[in-house]
Amino acid sequence: MATVTKKTSTTKTTTKKTASATKASVKPDAPKPVRKTVKEKAAVTAQKKKILFVASEATPFIATGGLAEVIGSLSTALAATKKFDVRVVIPLYSDIKKEYREKFTYLGNLYVHLAWRNQYCGIFEYVKDGVTYYFIDNEFYFKRPGCYGYFDDGERFAFFSRSVLEIMSFLNFYPDVMHCHDWQAALAAIYLKTNYCFRPEYQFIRALFTIHNIEYQGWYSLDLLGDLFDIYGTYQYLVEYKNSINLMKGAIECCERFSTVSPKYADEIKSEYYAHGLEPIVQRNAFKLCGILNGIDVEGYNPEKDTHLYANYTANDFANKAVCKKGLQKQLGLPQKPDTPIISMVTRLVSHKGLDLVTAVIEELLHEDVQIVILGTGDAHFEGFFSDLARRYPDKMSANIIFNGDLSRKIYSGSDIFLMPSKSEPCGLSQMIACRYGTIPVVRETGGLYDSIKPLENGYTFTNFNAHDMLFVLRKAISDYKNKEEWAKLMYRAATSDFSWGHSAQEYETLYLNMLK
Ligand code: GLC
Repeated sequence: MATVTKKTSTTKTTTKKTASATKASVKPDAPKPVRKTVKEKAAVTAQKKKILFVASEATPFIATGGLAEVIGSLSTALAATKKFDVRVVIPLYSDIKKEYREKFTYLGNLYVHLAWRNQYCGIFEYVKDGVTYYFIDNEFYFKRPGCYGYFDDGERFAFFSRSVLEIMSFLNFYPDVMHCHDWQAALAAIYLKTNYCFRPEYQFIRALFTIHNIEYQGWYSLDLLGDLFDIYGTYQYLVEYKNSINLMKGAIECCERFSTVSPKYADEIKSEYYAHGLEPIVQRNAFKLCGILNGIDVEGYNPEKDTHLYANYTANDFANKAVCKKGLQKQLGLPQKPDTPIISMVTRLVSHKGLDLVTAVIEELLHEDVQIVILGTGDAHFEGFFSDLARRYPDKMSANIIFNGDLSRKIYSGSDIFLMPSKSEPCGLSQMIACRYGTIPVVRETGGLYDSIKPLENGYTFTNFNAHDMLFVLRKAISDYKNKEEWAKLMYRAATSDFSWGHSAQEYETLYLNMLK
């Protein structure tokens, strides 16, 4: 590290209640509140286990998918237990929302070495809901639209991962567990175990690697090993796979434990069908693998308070869900028929989301008394297919080829059946969100869909990746929908299924503590 520049004071201004204003509101005979002294507070913080999440995106700052939601909501849930000092580090992309960016505090900068490169690394900080977020600034790497898809993504995330280890000494924050997510953070675990762990401050840091989707592994040509990733001879075997570099494989080898985002997916990725070529590595390391089902931010997705909805409602009174349905039909130009079930999909339009099943039988489905609403972007041939269908069936089909958070909530609340026929689904959050809004999921039994949706308890499921199996179950749901009394009970059970982080956060807690034994 060549230079380190620390900022001693921040430019942040906050409004605080004056001491006299606080005193005035306390009754003279009320018992004095027990305040912790600064020393006591420091002692509590010292006892807390330190967790550092390393990830490529996090809500509310930047999101391209479910990963961001999990980073944002799991870290908050863990911090709320008061047992952990939780911090998160992500790159400072130029697309990070301005409303937040303006509030970040600049902490200083350092220079990060990687092979022959020596790059600027600025550090910004922001505290939200008990979680401290750090943002790694380097305009050469991150001042671009979006998060991924660049020819030099390998170099960008190698720089990011190396910076994560470097800022630990800058911040004097050495986590007990460094929790890395997906291939973009894989190198942080690899650098820790091949380099930094030989330094005294880093030697006890444990690495947990969570796979949110095994499809994206970070494959690179072996020629780049030293030049790009700064990994040489002795450690080549860790990242080498099938005559290439595979960063996910490297992280699995290096970490103390690795996990997936549902128990079923942890099992599935041991097999060829799901592992995208990594099954031998997963099998060999299965002794340190576990699956923990994601939760959702149940306050962020709450039909009682959601301001995007046409009307608010609760699991005990769904009357206003009809208002949401009417509003949605009107907005999308569909006939306002209260008794025609709306089947919806909010999804990326890509094959592994099961769209091949949908395209195979959707015309058969459209012969039923249904309306179908699709929201999402993705592969051009799916986008074209659904747009064309909407032109041919304007009274039954609405294809919205956009990414729109507001409309997605109107769809979750305004539709009746939510379809998620994924070929593979590490966890999936949409089926949980749909449940929360009393919209009944129809899912294929895979990954987190299998773990979260139980037939007739809170949804419908089918086993095989088969279009007519899906159609059969959809028809069953459409027919059950007509039985208003039973359907209302099903809606209630779905909306009251517990998808909060409570239980899963506890499982992470146990996992962290086991790793530290
Ligand atoms: C990935 C997975 C999805 C999961 C999400 C959060 O996007 O594809 O199934 O819910 O990560 O873990």
